[in-house]
Amino acid sequence: MKIRDIIHSRLIFVSGKGGVGKTCVASAIGKTSAQTGKKVLLVEVDNFHASFPAIFGGDMSYTPRELESNLYGCNITWMKALEDWLVGTVRVRTIVQMILKNRVAMLFLNATPGAREIVILSKIADLLDDYDQVIVDLPASGHALGILRVPGTAIELMRSGPIYERAKQILRVFSHPRAMVLLCALPEEMVVNETLEFAQKIKQDVPQIQNLGVVINRVSVPSFNEAEATLLSRLSTTEPIDSSTSIEVRNMIDSAIWDQSLEEASARSIDRLNDELGYDVLTLPKLGLLGGFGGGTPKVVQQMSTIFTRTFRMEQS
Ligand SMILES: Nc1ncnc2c1ncn2[C@@H]1O[C@H](COP(=O)(O)OP(=O)(O)OP(=O)(O)O)[C@@H](O)[C@H]1O
Ligand SMILES: [Mg+2]
Repeated sequence: MKIRDIIHSRLIFVSGKGGVGKTCVASAIGKTSAQTGKKVLLVEVDNFHASFPAIFGGDMSYTPRELESNLYGCNITWMKALEDWLVGTVRVRTIVQMILKNRVAMLFLNATPGAREIVILSKIADLLDDYDQVIVDLPASGHALGILRVPGTAIELMRSGPIYERAKQILRVFSHPRAMVLLCALPEEMVVNETLEFAQKIKQDVPQIQNLGVVINRVSVPSFNEAEATLLSRLSTTEPIDSSTSIEVRNMIDSAIWDQSLEEASARSIDRLNDELGYDVLTLPKLGLLGGFGGGTPKVVQQMSTIFTRTFRMEQS
């Protein structure tokens, strides 16, 4: 997979295990695409505490707001999306307000399996009309799969009705040749296992989405050449000569060995994912660790976006 496949996508669902960097990766892709002149929307889904403000500042509401030039963001909350959906379905605003204020109707809607997911996905599908690219920062893997498979299940269970019609419309959007699921992972065995399982489930349960990519985040890049690695392996088995410096020397050797094991784990994870998926995954290094780093998450996103932009330009040339 190339970065250009991501930049040229119309709709990107970003997911992966909790804390692996989904929000950062989604934001960095958004920044990169927006810089190419596309009008891009970053979407978070029904988040009680929106995540994008920590990166772009300000707040994140239901109505999209411009975060940077060409880049917009919104938080699609259930109640607002439901109101939009009812307006589109019932069409008479006073009746919509009556439904929203009716406790029994709301209890029913809240309890209807799949209603929330269909309403939110339907809003995302509508937003595609106004933007060149929509990037959805989905929740962690299991929950994300729960959302994405609802339209397919609705089609299987229903024969007609507004939910059935919307589900069909959402599946058409999923089937777009430039719709993709992008999974974020870390170079750790357990996370790689879960990513492969998740990729398999997406293929099985949401077959309409034809493109699936993986980004391995926080990869340790090789810092030792072969001669240094040999020296390190020799030092690790030799006793320090001068006992007064032995603890410091031992600590340095241990930390170098730790770095080397992280690099090896990264290389193993990348090879395994490439082998089992049958295409090359994208990688992002550990960022913001050198030079008195103090920029926090916005800096990480900035650095990721710089990497994406450089890679994109290299792919173009
Ligand atoms: N490549 C990286 N190098 C260093 N720090 C990173 C990197 N990627 C992400 N981070 C940091 O890791 C933390 C988690 O990132 P992020 O919020 O994007 O993860 P997430 O998968 O969206 O988490 P959640 O599951 O809670 O939504 C943030 O503090 C971010 O700054
Ligand atoms: Mg997040």
